[in-house]
Amino acid sequence: MPRKIIIDTDPGQDDAVAILLALASPEEMTVLGITAVAGNVPLPLTQKNARIVCELAGKVDVPVFAGCDAPIKRKLVTAEHVHGKTGLDGPPMADPVMPLQSQHAVDFIVETLRREPAGTVTLCPLGPLTNIAVAFQKAPDIVARVQEIVLMGGAYFEVGNITPAAEFNIYVDPEAAEIVFKSGVPLVVMPLDVTHKALTSKARVDAFRHLGTQVGDMVAAWTDFFERFDVAKYGSQGAPLHDPCVIAYLIKPDLFSGRHINVAIETHSDLTLGMTVADWWGVTDRPKNAMFMGGVDADGFYALLTERLARL
Ligand code: BDR
Ligand code: CA
Repeated sequence: MPRKIIIDTDPGQDDAVAILLALASPEEMTVLGITAVAGNVPLPLTQKNARIVCELAGKVDVPVFAGCDAPIKRKLVTAEHVHGKTGLDGPPMADPVMPLQSQHAVDFIVETLRREPAGTVTLCPLGPLTNIAVAFQKAPDIVARVQEIVLMGGAYFEVGNITPAAEFNIYVDPEAAEIVFKSGVPLVVMPLDVTHKALTSKARVDAFRHLGTQVGDMVAAWTDFFERFDVAKYGSQGAPLHDPCVIAYLIKPDLFSGRHINVAIETHSDLTLGMTVADWWGVTDRPKNAMFMGGVDADGFYALLTERLARL
């Protein structure tokens, strides 16, 4: 039986690839909806980009909702320096024709979790956790109904990317992250420790390009654009495709390895705001709340991505 999922996202080229991977994998998952949040770029762009990606995949029936346009109590921090002015910079894309749903993303999340049998809907956040946390605050009864949250965010050994101590998705809305990490919902976390081990390379991007499809060309072009930032920053050969790790986990969990540990979010210190304090070595007695991944079979990950994108 395919897992029912809601993708909560701030596209973002890597979010876009994650959405494509999900839409190409109906045996493993049914995408009930895509909820956009402010993050990499402001909300009007993330909700538009989500629809552009659905149209590219030819899946115009997937409902797309706009959610929160700012973090719970902070000013929005964006990442145009990574993703470009539109969030999906690369080849120019036409504006989407498919509609944006009129319902607020938070209400869609609440309503869906109340409607579907308890324990049958998985949330897949690929951006700041604002929509999820606001839904949990608004409707605490839904928390126990979530099957699992599989998210991209945080770092332990890699520490941070947007600040020396914090990863972008958690940093943008640390209060939301704290609500989610303390919610008691089973969490699977794909931190930078994993994504920085799944770098693009010429051969891996050429494999997308050689699919000979519009999707393959677009993913290759997005990756080329997105790569330049990390290549310049880290001096690496390629760049991490962060968000598709979440969807790859739903298809082939064995690609990833990690530890079930306590992860707490720093919400006070100016210096380390948004840090994911991960008790990897088990030195506290804080309760375990997350499966925190640390390893990935990168070749297997890229093989899966290429095989699935070929279907679109
Ligand atoms: C995360 O931040 C965003 O820029 C990416 O889309 C990813 O979700 C990586 O830190
Ligand atoms: Ca993202």
